[in-house]
Amino acid sequence: MNINYDVIIVADVIRLEEKRLLEEAQNAGLRVLLLNLSSKGFRIGEERLAPYALIRSISMYRSLYSASFLEASGYRAINSSLSILLAGDKALSLPLFFKSGIPIPPTYLALSPETAIGYMTSRRKPLIDKPPIGSWGRLVSIIDSDITAKIVVEHREEIPSPQMKAHLIQDYVQINGEDIRCFVVRGDVVACMKRKAPPGEWRTNVAIGAQTEPFTPTDTVTEISVKAVETIKADYGSVDIGVDKITGEHYLFEVNGVPEFKGLEKTTKANIAKAIIDVVKR
Ligand SMILES: Nc1ncnc2c1ncn2[C@@H]1O[C@H](COP(=O)(O)OP(=O)(O)O)[C@@H](O)[C@H]1O
Ligand SMILES: [Mg+2]
Repeated sequence: MNINYDVIIVADVIRLEEKRLLEEAQNAGLRVLLLNLSSKGFRIGEERLAPYALIRSISMYRSLYSASFLEASGYRAINSSLSILLAGDKALSLPLFFKSGIPIPPTYLALSPETAIGYMTSRRKPLIDKPPIGSWGRLVSIIDSDITAKIVVEHREEIPSPQMKAHLIQDYVQINGEDIRCFVVRGDVVACMKRKAPPGEWRTNVAIGAQTEPFTPTDTVTEISVKAVETIKADYGSVDIGVDKITGEHYLFEVNGVPEFKGLEKTTKANIAKAIIDVVKR
């Protein structure tokens, strides 16, 4: 085997996150190679160039497939293809979180428009409807009436993808436009912030314009975050947690297996890129 590098970074769009990972790899004295998926494909079993592959495509499927092919060459993919798959599909990870005893919002799976509408019209509103795959809050909808339920289901039926026709329908957690984002690396919470939805919005994604502030994780938040990332066997991940403003109960929304972190680094001043690079430093 011709191992010339300590780590390869597999990406397509070179965001600030990938630049920070390159920078911290170089600071750590690692020999690092950037592989751009726009110009590089993979042959099964092709020669391995490094022990580790950091998987950083903006597309969940490009990340998943490249991790899978690189693992065949003996790379330790970070995250692994399995973790990327589980994190990337909420219909796969939410049941696992439930089985691990992690609190999640009551969640119903509907695989036909009739089932989705039947459940939504029978259940107390507001409800949340989300597709199994997606990020940045895209297609995460609030259902406040039977009319909205029918419209959301109708719109999703028009999207030509089987995953987009699957509905994860959750009870609305009274987060009042605020939730918690934590970042876990190898069993430790390395940074945490509060996110506040912008005016006129209920979702708290930074991509939608949420405001952020540093947050010191409580024991409950730490416990949920660490257990969630461990459940999907990920080396690192970001975790979204909502707290019900009335009951104080915590609910895990999701784990991201190829997470962005520029907002979290800026808000908390934590060196997240270094924490990730420490995983591949032997
Ligand atoms: N059950 C829920 N109750 C209240 N708000 C929710 C619920 N599920 C999601 N949200 C809001 O929508 C946002 C996006 O949902 P999430 O499941 O994290 O999907 P995405 O992968 O698009 O970020 C969350 O950060 C939160 O603000
Ligand atoms: Mg999220």
